[in-house]
Amino acid sequence: MAYSLDTFRDSVVAVTGATGFIGTHLVERLCGLDAEVHGIGRSETRFQHQKFHGLQLDLSDYPAVKGAIETIRPDYVFHLASHVMGSPDLIHVLPTFHANLESSVNLLTACAETGYGRGRIVLTGSLVEPPPGEIETVPSCPYAAAKWASSSYARMFHALYGLPTCIARVFMVYGPAQRDESKLVPYVLRSLLSGHAPKITSGQRMIDWVYVADVVEGFLAIAAAKEGNCESVDLGSGELIATQDLVLRIVKLMQTSEQPKFGALPDRPLEPIRTADVERSFQQTGWRPRVSLDQGMRETIAYYRGVWG
Ligand SMILES: NC(=O)c1ccc[n+]([C@@H]2O[C@H](COP(=O)([O-])OP(=O)(O)OC[C@H]3O[C@@H](n4cnc5c(N)ncnc54)[C@H](OP(=O)(O)O)[C@@H]3O)[C@@H](O)[C@H]2O)c1
Repeated sequence: MAYSLDTFRDSVVAVTGATGFIGTHLVERLCGLDAEVHGIGRSETRFQHQKFHGLQLDLSDYPAVKGAIETIRPDYVFHLASHVMGSPDLIHVLPTFHANLESSVNLLTACAETGYGRGRIVLTGSLVEPPPGEIETVPSCPYAAAKWASSSYARMFHALYGLPTCIARVFMVYGPAQRDESKLVPYVLRSLLSGHAPKITSGQRMIDWVYVADVVEGFLAIAAAKEGNCESVDLGSGELIATQDLVLRIVKLMQTSEQPKFGALPDRPLEPIRTADVERSFQQTGWRPRVSLDQGMRETIAYYRGVWG
């Protein structure tokens, strides 16, 4: 299936989580496609573009969400806002409930009540959700439970109220300008650039890493693919790499003698091992990942060298 990015020219697009890592890249790309972009987040965005408008609100506040949708009148909605924390700790139950599940339900309800988002409403799922057809009763963490429940709501809004929802099931993302510097890639890069050995888990977990520019193109393809039903579309590389091998690959690309300390941090329980089904994504949308791990990691290292080097 082919998709056309012309579809976004002069369209009105709402992006939640616009101040975040992936959201920032998506907003920039959409502005480059000549869309009128409204970025939503709790904090102020510093992004400057003549067709960009920033809006500060908490998506767990329903009247504020409905008011924003009525004001923006979006053709397309990309919902990326989230409390992105895969730790099993109890302290993440309420933040993931409010920022992930409640925010999704508020946004879907506002779109259903107002009739906006008729182009496509793309929710951001995660690799922590089970793939279609897999029966799994125990989510690995509060974040996984909230993401999975949000996707269920999206399917329900599609089936009951005819909302054109779709779910981008995003795998592990890396790239320039990741906002949360405690995440693996920026943490390792910062440690190595400042001459410290990064502390890592056993490094045994196998993960599908995908470059942020590929993820952004995937979001656009999902929104532009007109014939889609409310399926999840995997946005990953389709390849697994052990955390240990990824970190050693970074060390090699940076040509540093610093050696990471594996086993210095505990492994997390219940972490799922999943690979994106990129052939299925291609059938669904015409999208497939283009950037190799080495290529993407070189771009990422160059960016962080510019910031911290
Ligand atoms: N990064 C990854 O590897 C990865 C993997 C799989 C899925 N995902 C998903 O992809 C999406 C984007 O991830 P990311 O890495 O870009 O996350 P991020 O950098 O942490 O950004 C999260 C965004 O959500 C906003 N937000 C959080 N709570 C909000 C609320 N109550 N109301 C309004 N805005 C709120 C934050 O803005 P403020 O703080 O300004 O409110 C921020 O802009 C998320 O849905 C995440 O779950 C990410």
